Amino acid sequence: MKHLSKEEFDDLQKFYRINLINSCTGYKSANLLGSISKEGVENVSVFSSITHLGSNPAMLGYILRPTTVPRDTFKNIKETGLFTVNHIVKDLISEAHHTSAKYPEEISEFDKTNLEQEYKDGCKAPFVKGSPVQLICKYQNEYNIKENGTILVVASIEDIYFNEELVSDSGFLQLDKGGVVTINGCDGYALPSLLDRFEYQRPKK
Ligand SMILES: Cc1cc2nc3c(=O)[nH]c(=O)nc-3n(C[C@H](O)[C@H](O)[C@H](O)COP(=O)(O)O)c2cc1C
Repeated sequence: MKHLSKEEFDDLQKFYRINLINSCTGYKSANLLGSISKEGVENVSVFSSITHLGSNPAMLGYILRPTTVPRDTFKNIKETGLFTVNHIVKDLISEAHHTSAKYPEEISEFDKTNLEQEYKDGCKAPFVKGSPVQLICKYQNEYNIKENGTILVVASIEDIYFNEELVSDSGFLQLDKGGVVTINGCDGYALPSLLDRFEYQRPKK
């Protein structure tokens, strides 16, 4: 196997290094965060760091890149206290990816892509139409990660919407049935398929 020490990969060409470090930690979740500013400008942006933080209470978190440039989703979340999480499906990957382009805050990515917003149940933040799993989340807290200037944003899951074809009798959402993708690195999208599921494991006697 090829081996690179920290000294060696720190010296790599910038984009090679970015790709390598972004892909070496494994597959990541693929979500579009929907939010709205207090002036009513919608935002939708791709995020690959949404992660489960706990099921009771239901919480998730995501890592926000350093706020050295405007971060519209974060600003909107701080202004309104809420956002939606929308799983990305295979038919939407190129449109979803384009939401990472740096548009000024007064421009909605919904107007610059074929992604369509939808509103339901009085939630102020927009959802992404066609996403088979959608969440409404409420901002709870943020933690500065001083080692690299990123922020862990912590939120509670307030509402869950899912396409009923995805859910098993036990409550498991089988994401491949909905064509939900995963992110490989910072620009690769892959379509996983479920291999198997297992019982709760106990130590062998
Ligand atoms: C595949 C992919 C994953 C991304 N994941 C994150 C992430 O987890 N955290 C983050 O802060 N930015 C992430 N970004 C960058 C944001 O999508 C980008 O900064 C976007 O412009 C944010 O928009 P906003 O300023 O309107 O919130 C990602 C970009 C791509 C292409």
